[in-house]
Amino acid sequence: MRGMYICLCNAVTDHDIRRQAADGVRGFAELQARTGCSDCCGCCESEARACLQQAVEQLEAVPALPAFVAVA
Ligand code: FES
Repeated sequence: MRGMYICLCNAVTDHDIRRQAADGVRGFAELQARTGCSDCCGCCESEARACLQQAVEQLEAVPALPAFVAVA
């Protein structure tokens, strides 16, 4: 599944942006460096920023898994 194109100039999809967020990207500059998103015409910048922010918020909203406790 390819997702929806956010940046047409560089073929960056919403899935690509969510994947980058899952890999630890938290800032737009880092997203640009990794994907090239919004480094051409710039039309996609606001949408790309919103997509990254939403992805980060979703990741941070996931509760931490309980620690594994070994039973002897
Ligand atoms: S659409 Fe992203 S730089 Fe042009």
